[in-house]
Amino acid sequence: MATLSVGQLLRQTAARLTQSSSPQLDAELLLAKVMGVSRSGVLARLRDPVQPGIQEAYEELIARRELGEPVAYLLGRQGFWSLELDVTPDVLIPRPETELLVESCLQIAGPDAADFTVADLGTGSGAIALALAVERPAWQVYATDRSETALAVAAANARRLSLSDRIEFRQGDWCAALPDGLELDILVSNPPYIDPEDPHLSQGALPFEPLSALRSDEYGLRDIRLIVQQSLAVLKPAGWLLLEHGYNQGAAARQLMEQHKFNQVRTVKDLAGLDRVTLGCRS
Ligand SMILES: C[S@@+](CC[C@H](N)C(=O)[O-])C[C@H]1O[C@@H](n2cnc3c(N)ncnc32)[C@H](O)[C@@H]1O
Repeated sequence: MATLSVGQLLRQTAARLTQSSSPQLDAELLLAKVMGVSRSGVLARLRDPVQPGIQEAYEELIARRELGEPVAYLLGRQGFWSLELDVTPDVLIPRPETELLVESCLQIAGPDAADFTVADLGTGSGAIALALAVERPAWQVYATDRSETALAVAAANARRLSLSDRIEFRQGDWCAALPDGLELDILVSNPPYIDPEDPHLSQGALPFEPLSALRSDEYGLRDIRLIVQQSLAVLKPAGWLLLEHGYNQGAAARQLMEQHKFNQVRTVKDLAGLDRVTLGCRS
């Protein structure tokens, strides 16, 4: 077999990844991982021959990508906010839409909220809690999850980013995971919100992600309902609740918050113009 150049290998591979929306980028990122260099390092070596052993290791990753495995799991990394997070199949791959939750949280708090106490329920990889801890060094941040394995990933991310002393990780079911008597200025969550009957659960990256991070009963609204109900016991008066939800769940989320006497209830749209985050202030 003639030795291929890096550029030839990339071209051949991108042509195989027909189901991906970004075949060239996937091919480059996965080759960078196998070569142990950055993506720009790959692009700087397009004319170089592929080194022995690289093609075999690359082929293994590409075969998994052809079967639909998300690039983030193959790389073990995903960018979120200003951070590079480790991800494993134990955690949801953090989505760009969820940055809206972080942004809304920082906006609601304003620049002068120095000593807020904030909780991120269902933290997964730790994405939201870590982004908030980076942006607001003086905040006390709690990050919870029911999944022990997800919490281990989140805690490892905090250690790698030198944020461990700023976040308290706690295992448990929604608000029951928080310390007794805690009073929050902000409770934020991106809970599971996909209807168990939704066909999207078997499409794209979703079959590779933990079902417990995706699916919620009552047409996707059960966990949102539980968090709204339980939040009343942990939010300070005038504390804020911010929840991510599906594009078609804004009205239901607003209704739930209004039923529980939240004020200033509103829904924020994502960059695609879809309802994505609903927030309200506890009376
Ligand atoms: C949609 S994922 C969000 C992960 C992460 N916050 C993010 O935005 O990338 C939902 C998370 O909630 C957790 N979860 C599901 N049910 C829970 C429950 N009853 N109590 C606490 N966490 C739960 C899952 O383990 C998962 O990590």
